[in-house]
Amino acid sequence: MAKSNMDQDILKVLYTEEEIKARVQAMGDELYDKFADKNPLFVGVLNGCFIFMADLVRATQLKSELEFIGLSSYNNGVKSSGVVQITRDLQRDITNRHIIVVEDILDSGNTLAFLKKYLLSKGAASITIVTLLDKPSRREKAITADLAGFEVPDEFVVGYGLDYAQQYRNVPYIGVLKPEVYSK
Ligand code: XMP
Ligand code: MG
Repeated sequence: MAKSNMDQDILKVLYTEEEIKARVQAMGDELYDKFADKNPLFVGVLNGCFIFMADLVRATQLKSELEFIGLSSYNNGVKSSGVVQITRDLQRDITNRHIIVVEDILDSGNTLAFLKKYLLSKGAASITIVTLLDKPSRREKAITADLAGFEVPDEFVVGYGLDYAQQYRNVPYIGVLKPEVYSK
């Protein structure tokens, strides 16, 4: 494996760089077919979306616009607090826009349930939820993704944008963190 002092903290690899690339391309193709005549607005959920968003919009090749929102509910832990805070608000009017939400992982559903309500309250014409990872076993809110990359088991995953306490976002694959790393 290539140089990294983070690999030692990973218990197992769930999805390799190659598998992610192929799946993201297929997701991009699907979005192209759905939105080719709609000039959608991609709204990425910071910080976790940053790598997925960059790859997805290049895989999609749609005439579109990009926007970001910062949301937080984890306070550096591995479990959602349930209270979602806006850490960076939208910088533009989204009235009557077709929104493609780009999220790293749909876990408890607290974040996306909050965001969906928020975007509707701001006048969005439609909301399509795209998530790289889906962890349905831990859902607390009745929310589903319109398009999901991969399903993951009930384990804390990192890499490809996903963090533990702001670290491991630059791991190029998706892996499960060794429990001793976060129980220290
Ligand atoms: P909820 O629980 O609100 O979670 O659906 C959404 C946000 O929480 C983060 N999250 C994770 N981050 N590994 C991570 O690195 C995980 O297993 C995990 N589960 C949830 C993520 O940022 C997402 O935006
Ligand atoms: Mg996160």
